Amino acid sequence: MNKKGLWLGGLTLAVCGVALAGALMWRPSLAPVKQHALQDSEQIKRGALVVEAGDCAVCHTRPGGEYLAGGLALVTPFGTLYSTNITPDDRTGIGEWSLETFERAMRHGISRDGHFLYPAFPYAHYRRMSEGDLKDAYAYLMSGPPVDSPARPNQMNFPMNIRPLVSFWNLLFLHGEQPQSESRQTAQWNRGRYLMEGAGHCAGCHSPLNLLGAEKSGQSLAGGMVDGWEAPSLLGLAHAHKPWNSQQLVGYLRGEVAADHGAAAGPMRPVSLSLAKVPISDVQAIAEYLLSLGAHNPAEPRSPSPDITTVDPTARNEGAALFQAACAGCHGSGAPMRLIDGRPDLADTSAMRSATSRNFVKTVLEGIAMTPGASGPGMPAFATTLNEAQLTVLATYLRARAEPDHPWADLSVTIKDLREDAK
Ligand code: HEC
Ligand code: HEC
Ligand code: HEC
Repeated sequence: MNKKGLWLGGLTLAVCGVALAGALMWRPSLAPVKQHALQDSEQIKRGALVVEAGDCAVCHTRPGGEYLAGGLALVTPFGTLYSTNITPDDRTGIGEWSLETFERAMRHGISRDGHFLYPAFPYAHYRRMSEGDLKDAYAYLMSGPPVDSPARPNQMNFPMNIRPLVSFWNLLFLHGEQPQSESRQTAQWNRGRYLMEGAGHCAGCHSPLNLLGAEKSGQSLAGGMVDGWEAPSLLGLAHAHKPWNSQQLVGYLRGEVAADHGAAAGPMRPVSLSLAKVPISDVQAIAEYLLSLGAHNPAEPRSPSPDITTVDPTARNEGAALFQAACAGCHGSGAPMRLIDGRPDLADTSAMRSATSRNFVKTVLEGIAMTPGASGPGMPAFATTLNEAQLTVLATYLRARAEPDHPWADLSVTIKDLREDAK
């Protein structure tokens, strides 16, 4: 090819490239609607349950703020962004959104005016929700009181502050449709899978993420991290060291204390408080599906023990003394919380048995707020009462009771890390 031909070819390619990128990075704005058809009250009731199953309020209501009016900060590795107002306010909310506009946002992550939404909004999961569920959710949202609450400006880092770049993320990671039902399984199992993969977006927290913040393929539900907490693997729960049964799972998922395992304390807590409001049959369905999931790699050996396999006796005594002084009033074998509320021995809880010390250290530093309306004590925060050395000794002592052969290799790093965060 001669020089001119090359040049022309290059130009054509460049034009095509720009056109392609343009097509990819541009979405039309959809017309505002002024009037919504009157919705029937049964549909609104069903929609309320879909919104609970989807945890919409967990992200779209900030502490002390109006229901669904947005403004909660989400800290991501790419910067901080704020949830937006999804009340039917015309100016600052989604009051002018048609059903079609809403569905496009839920399935493709596009706002009404055409801008791309960040995948911290779990549309990658919500796209798997059924048409009927989305319609019901829309009816419910549109029936609520409008709240005037403008979006807060995000602080995303370069290059993620350029929203159109999300189109590439979508190209790479936005797939997966509503799961086909599996006829070999029960209706309840299929329902459980549908709820987990769609509205529940469980894999969003319980899976490892890649550098772009998308779930690593083939490792769905194999365990992840959120806000400094470990979201444990949900694979093989039926074969765990202390196996979960359906009744324990249903209780746990509805915010109750599960015998042998304890209760949700961290980011799982608001999720479980939402699930407590959906029909119990749905939570039972989730439990049935969960218990059918096999371990990721059953042959995988447990993490090897580090060099120190014995806890030195002075430290052990010191740990026991700290436990007596600071914890036994609630967690000791004769404490009312154990005897009356049936809370398990700390040694049996997931926090103590996990391969990492994160959830234990987090819980002790930050405490656990009391569930509104629940009886019994809350868990106090010890960030200012226990120093680093005391926390280390206490953790080592308790871990040795739960898993004598597997001291926490990450303990000192985790304590340093999380104490920094807590400051
Ligand atoms: C994990 C947190 C999280 C959950 C859970 C969540 N959202 Fe959001 N949502 C966000 C964030 C953050 C944004 C803003 C994204 C942005 O600005 O790019 C958003 C944006 C939206 C938008 C677009 C609003 C607009 O003005 O563009 C809609 C609609 C929406 N969410 C609906 C829902 C519904 C319905 C649910 C429950 C089924 C839900 N969200 C659950 C975090 C969440
Ligand atoms: C916002 C993130 C998030 C979402 C969404 C989420 N989880 Fe969790 N989950 C966690 C974290 C973190 C823990 C660790 C314990 C805690 O937070 O107290 C946990 C703990 C659990 C546990 C206890 C596991 C164990 O071994 O102790 C189960 C079971 C569970 N989640 C199931 C689910 C299911 C089912 C869903 C979806 C319906 C779900 N989770 C959605 C973050 C999440
Ligand atoms: C005033 C009572 C009280 C004291 C004192 C207390 N806790 Fe707790 N702790 C609780 C309650 C209540 C929960 C469960 C909260 C929930 O999930 O509803 C809890 C939960 C926990 C958990 C999560 C595991 C589980 O049961 O689900 C850990 C780990 C824990 N406590 C460790 C400690 C340690 C270590 C100390 C001492 C430094 C301590 N606690 C002192 C009341 C207390």
